[in-house]
Amino acid sequence: MALAIMDTTTRYGVVSKALHWGMALLFVWQFSGAAARVFLEDTALESFLWGTHRTVGVTLMLLVLLRAVWALINTSRRPPSVSVMAKFGHLVLYGLMIAVPTIALIRQYGSGRALDVFGINLMPGFEGERIDWMVNLGGLLHGELGWALLALIVGHVVMAILHRKLTNHDVVSRMT
Ligand code: HEM
Ligand code: HEM
Repeated sequence: MALAIMDTTTRYGVVSKALHWGMALLFVWQFSGAAARVFLEDTALESFLWGTHRTVGVTLMLLVLLRAVWALINTSRRPPSVSVMAKFGHLVLYGLMIAVPTIALIRQYGSGRALDVFGINLMPGFEGERIDWMVNLGGLLHGELGWALLALIVGHVVMAILHRKLTNHDVVSRMT
């Protein structure tokens, strides 16, 4: 079938591909904003890129949950990982894709500030003392794990290209 919805043992289906490449684009945007926050402080480009950080972050969080469910439904048909390391690497990517925004949302809740995304009020916020452990957890881990995720994504892209160039596993064609 030209457009298989489900994955098969030789290639990913259209849903997995859409999630993979759609999220990849959103991650490029998200990390450009994070980089702008560090390197282009107080510039127009920073406010443009960083201004969507929470909205895109929540969107990525919802998409990764969908993607994890879809991966579970397709576990038995997906193309097998080329190695134990590849399998482990993908698992860690999932772990970080879930942990990074979850920790941010915990911090956001603990700060007592409201959170609106696409005009929907996700957190009403509250008066009074902030919840210290929630705020501190985010302060300690959100940015750090976020950058670790970026490092792992760079490694992932390099490995995908290397596998295509150096071995006869053309993994890229499974995902394109
Ligand atoms: C997968 C989604 C996300 C990624 C990859 C991500 C990534 C990052 C990174 C790399 C930084 C560090 C920037 C720096 O060093 O200055 C950062 C900071 C921040 N993020 Fe996110 N983020 C995500 C989701 C979210 C969400 C959902 C929220 C809030 C609802 C959020 C709120 C913040 C805030 C307030 C900061 C600045 C404070 C800090 O450095 O921790 N992020 N994010
Ligand atoms: C130019 C960028 C990228 C390229 C060339 C690329 C390439 C690939 C390829 C070829 C596969 C299939 C590997 C296999 O079948 O063993 C794959 C799977 C995967 N990629 Fe990427 N990727 C890119 C960006 C990303 C980004 C930004 C993420 C986000 C964390 C990501 C996460 C994953 C995950 C988790 C899998 C396992 C399959 C799945 O559950 O979707 N990739 N990638």
